[in-house]
Amino acid sequence: MKDTFYISTPIYYPSGSWHIGTCYTTVICDSIARFNRMQGKDVFFLTGTDEHGQKVEAKAKEKGVTPKQYVDEIVADLKNIWQLLDINYSRFIRTTDEDHAKTVQYIFKRLYEQGDIYKSVYEGLYCTHCESFFTETQLVDGKCPDCGREVHHEREESYFFRLSKYADKILQLYQDNPEFLQPKTRVNEMINNFIKPGLQDLCVSRTSVKWGIPVDFDKEHTVYVWIDALSNYISALGYHNGDETLFNKFWPCDLHMTGKEIIRFHAIIWPAILMALDLPLPKRIYGHGWLLVGGDKLSKSKQDKINTELTDPKDFVARYGKDSLRYYLLREIPFGTDGVYSNENFLNRINSDLSNDLGNLVSRTTAMINQNFDGVLLEPADKDEIDNELISMVSELYDVVAKDIEEINVPRALQDIFKVVGRANKYIDETTPWVLAKDPAKKGRLQTVLYNLSEVIRICASLLLAFIPSSATQILACYSINADDVNLLEAKNFGGLKAGTKVIKSQPIFPRIDVKKELKEIEDLMIKRHKESQKSAYKPENAQNGDENKAKDNKKSGEICEHPDEINIDEFFKVELRVAKVISCEKVEKSDKLLKLQLSLGYEERQVVSGIAKYYTPEELVGKKVVLVANLKPAKLRGVLSQGMILCGEEGDNVKLVEPDMSLPEGSRIR
Ligand code: MSP
Repeated sequence: MKDTFYISTPIYYPSGSWHIGTCYTTVICDSIARFNRMQGKDVFFLTGTDEHGQKVEAKAKEKGVTPKQYVDEIVADLKNIWQLLDINYSRFIRTTDEDHAKTVQYIFKRLYEQGDIYKSVYEGLYCTHCESFFTETQLVDGKCPDCGREVHHEREESYFFRLSKYADKILQLYQDNPEFLQPKTRVNEMINNFIKPGLQDLCVSRTSVKWGIPVDFDKEHTVYVWIDALSNYISALGYHNGDETLFNKFWPCDLHMTGKEIIRFHAIIWPAILMALDLPLPKRIYGHGWLLVGGDKLSKSKQDKINTELTDPKDFVARYGKDSLRYYLLREIPFGTDGVYSNENFLNRINSDLSNDLGNLVSRTTAMINQNFDGVLLEPADKDEIDNELISMVSELYDVVAKDIEEINVPRALQDIFKVVGRANKYIDETTPWVLAKDPAKKGRLQTVLYNLSEVIRICASLLLAFIPSSATQILACYSINADDVNLLEAKNFGGLKAGTKVIKSQPIFPRIDVKKELKEIEDLMIKRHKESQKSAYKPENAQNGDENKAKDNKKSGEICEHPDEINIDEFFKVELRVAKVISCEKVEKSDKLLKLQLSLGYEERQVVSGIAKYYTPEELVGKKVVLVANLKPAKLRGVLSQGMILCGEEGDNVKLVEPDMSLPEGSRIR
């Protein structure tokens, strides 16, 4: 029987704002799944959507459609993106699928009957936006710790899952299985931030949310958030909803891949639910970092008030092909940490690795075989010491890359493959095949050099099928190899290409990009789009309520009412407002009014002096998010450098900071 491998992404909220960051988890999982498939394993790769809850209910109402109609459209769009990016999933599960609902209802009832779920009353502080209850101590400045919004008191009859009962078992799990939660730093995060302060029982049903799976023995209640969402990992395999063949074959999961913000649900709540169900636990959970997108942080454009970074995956596919985006996502961000997207990094990465290194190797080699041997690969005719390093590197490459993937380090896997690609290009410079071609006595040497290069191409392209499948398929096709037939355990061995193989001259797979020109084009495109969206936002037919009336009034009187101090939108955009977080703060010596704040913008730190010492103590400010005027000329106040200004509102003697929504990341542009 074949070995099995089960990998999952989290299921996506149907937010509809899909950007390249959203694609990150899925492209990684797809590559790991593909690699395992090519190792001959029977792979189950699961992804899908998390469709229930108050937010969807509210949005659908706003649009005048049913929640199901609302999510159907968004899900279709997401599936389209996965198709564009060659995501080869085994199942796309939706929490609105009937079989999923059956599993969830079974789990809920079983846990209730065995006493792991009990009914009580929830009285607490509730954040409507996050659909979460909090205790007083969990609040930050009296507000929701996750999004910073106001919370309100709510009393509701609910069912609870006895999460508190599982704290010790989960600690034991981390201790006994150091591989369970990765990267390792996440373990301490879970223990210190969540388990040690005490696990609270978890509210698992709602009576006020109708868009959810009904609790079948108490129809007033719907299942709330995590029992619904997390159960997808087993409902997708048929657990208690019909045929359990897949469940028996694939559970426990080999790898749940998740973003770092939801690791605690996967590393604490999910194991506790599984322990209660007496099921084996997933083998590994990996919490990756974020790709920070949509900022204009690194834009050097003159008009840097507008976000000029590309973010829509469809734009990438249309302009540079699917594999360029896949490659960038997989290669650029050191695994486990955050990375910041910029057009320039993206274009340079594609040019240097795909166009220069890989593209050139393939086009030079296949062209020389066509020029010198009529497009037929000949067997190696001699041996030379100069060949040894390259041959030994490529012969070991599969083992190296398999280890990288086993250790869930996708960027390193690509680095290792490209090390060999780079070595092969150097081998071309060392062996100078174009010189060999001129001397009939050196034909044998040329034959060997081109054979060795072809083998490097074949082995590298076979490995690359997992990461850039469409381009690697094209490369292998030059050697008449059908990508569907590749098994890495066979493909890994040097010497696989038979003499007499027909070699087709490769077309440029990754045309070289003129980075300067392209940056300008992207910038123009983004500015044009921005202007169009501004225009449509201000069209009378698109204006809302008051604006609409104002527009009508203006039309009636036939005049445009301009306020003498009015500024146009471009003038406003000259002010660069950004979200910043206060990292530390202290009084400025010999001043009653001034505080010196160290602010983080994510991509850099700033020191700002502000005259708010009368209204805030330094301790109160640390941890807060503030609005920073980031392009103010630096100045010195009492001899202390101030690189910007933070915004406050004032009414008489009451001065308060303008505080952005806590969920906005540091560095976000405010406009
Ligand atoms: N519905 C929950 C997951 C439930 S799983 C039982 C959820 N959904 S989500 O849509 O918000 O996120 C889905 C995945 O996309 C997460 O892994 C998240 O970290 C990832 N990403 C969304 N934006 C991202 C970036 N900008 N960068 C990297 N990953 C990001 O959470």
